[in-house]
Amino acid sequence: MIFDMAALPFATRYKIMNSTVTPRPIGWTVTLDDAGVPNCAPHSFFNAMGSDPAMVVLGLMKLKGEDKDTAAYIRARPDFTIALVSEADGERMNLTATDSPRGVNELALAGIATRAATRIAAPLIASAPVNFECRAVDLLDYPGQTVVVAEVLVTHIDDAFISDAARTHIDTPAMKLIARTHGAGWYQRGTDQFQMQRPEYKALMAEKRAD
Ligand SMILES: Cc1cc2nc3c(=O)[nH]c(=O)nc-3n(C[C@H](O)[C@H](O)[C@H](O)COP(=O)(O)O)c2cc1C
Repeated sequence: MIFDMAALPFATRYKIMNSTVTPRPIGWTVTLDDAGVPNCAPHSFFNAMGSDPAMVVLGLMKLKGEDKDTAAYIRARPDFTIALVSEADGERMNLTATDSPRGVNELALAGIATRAATRIAAPLIASAPVNFECRAVDLLDYPGQTVVVAEVLVTHIDDAFISDAARTHIDTPAMKLIARTHGAGWYQRGTDQFQMQRPEYKALMAEKRAD
């Protein structure tokens, strides 16, 4: 089937994006409201966009054309944190996605322990294998969503997942990160991995000549 995306109803367009671009990492986002109360929500329209500088993006859907809390708070205060979600944090992450009214501290609601960030006011999630201290550098506004482009100022990785500090070797599989996949409520573990080295053109040509 071929889909003319702009002509589709919202729900169909969502199904297509949600069920094709998978697995998607989950950016567990912590912002602060005007009064300094933390707000927490998971986002799977999330990814790293490069490392020079270190950049991430979040796709924050609007409700009836209005920002949800995360986007509204980032507009007012561009510093926020993003944690990555381990399987052990899965249930707590899911609790922070409830449609709680503005002003509710979802970290407290879900019993999530935090610790202070180093450069920004929003807290880190203590149990997360990785936390990023971020600063929004661009907000792309669409009628149905806000795309936040942010620079990662500081990265925190739990020492348990650093296998060789001198070489910055990180034991990613040990983090047991979960990701969103197709359909409603489906998640994926990253346990089925394989390795493929990138070929160099010269070596590839030499191989072809030898055939
Ligand atoms: C795993 C998961 C991924 C989600 N991804 C997104 C997303 O990428 N964008 C979005 O707007 N909402 C997403 N949601 C829904 C929000 O987390 C939910 O609407 C939340 O209540 C928004 O909170 P806020 O009002 O504090 O921003 C996701 C929910 C879950 C459980």
